[in-house]
Amino acid sequence: MKTHTLNDGRELPAIGFGTYPLTGDDGIDAVVSAIEVGYRLLDTAVNYENEHEVGEAIRRSGVPRDELVVCSKLPGRHHGYDDAIASVRGSLERLGLDRLDLHLIHWPNPSQGRYADAWRALVGLQRDGLVASIGVSNFTQTHLHRIIDETGVTPAVNQIELHPHFPQPEMRAANAELGILTESWSPLGKRQAPFSEPPVAAAAEARGVTPGQVILRWQVQLGAVPIPKSATPSRQRENLDVFGFELSDDEMAAITGLGRADGRLFGGDPDTHEEM
Ligand SMILES: NC(=O)c1ccc[n+]([C@@H]2O[C@H](COP(=O)([O-])OP(=O)(O)OC[C@H]3O[C@@H](n4cnc5c(N)ncnc54)[C@H](OP(=O)(O)O)[C@@H]3O)[C@@H](O)[C@H]2O)c1
Repeated sequence: MKTHTLNDGRELPAIGFGTYPLTGDDGIDAVVSAIEVGYRLLDTAVNYENEHEVGEAIRRSGVPRDELVVCSKLPGRHHGYDDAIASVRGSLERLGLDRLDLHLIHWPNPSQGRYADAWRALVGLQRDGLVASIGVSNFTQTHLHRIIDETGVTPAVNQIELHPHFPQPEMRAANAELGILTESWSPLGKRQAPFSEPPVAAAAEARGVTPGQVILRWQVQLGAVPIPKSATPSRQRENLDVFGFELSDDEMAAITGLGRADGRLFGGDPDTHEEM
């Protein structure tokens, strides 16, 4: 698996596995299957209520712990400094792990105004070795500059909504300028995946691959790390198999050109969304 080097020197796989909303026995089976087909980056969150399932899948897979990159996320109700520290300890307990490889602030919840306290807590947890890499999700430039100015510590990752209908050129550029790796959530576009949009369908036809593979290859060539979710083993395998072909500059531009002013999937505006 190709990797990216984060600004803290650690490696992150070029594609990860999204685990929302995989829960219960079926959820464990889906995550075990994902590890078996080759995913090494697993994306969970306190609010997905499946950290236990992800931890159980890791143990059942038999893959050595050090080969996996486990990422979870801090919910809005835990943004206070002490609450954030207790929250990460809770995540570790549910996962059955003694270290998270990456932990993100799930949403900035700016109306609460406590995301900088949460960031200070993550900086301390990284120093103490409970979390290897620290980052954020759904942060705008304003939120990023505030935490960097207040702590001097730049997030390693910013996980944002990113798919062909919402390609986020400004936010990708802002992350890159700060040395922050962009991860893409809902990388296929979730249920509204633009599989039949002409630039996607034509590239798939020309290369003998699926529309999903074209979109994930577009993500990889943008320099972003997509974290597609699939409960279906054949699609899990398909979504990893995007390193054997390349999209041309014209194809890349045409897919990015599918961006729309109303391309956001749901009310996920970081300035107003409250993720409790
Ligand atoms: N940070 C945040 O705020 C945030 C927000 C949303 C999501 N996330 C993370 O991002 C992950 C991925 O996002 P997502 O699950 O919303 O959307 P997604 O990965 O873009 O799409 C998932 C959907 O696409 C289907 N699918 C997957 N591969 C396919 C393929 N090759 N062909 C056709 N259909 C395919 C899946 O169905 P099957 O399962 O039936 O195959 C599922 O319905 C989540 O699991 C979560 O970890 C983070």
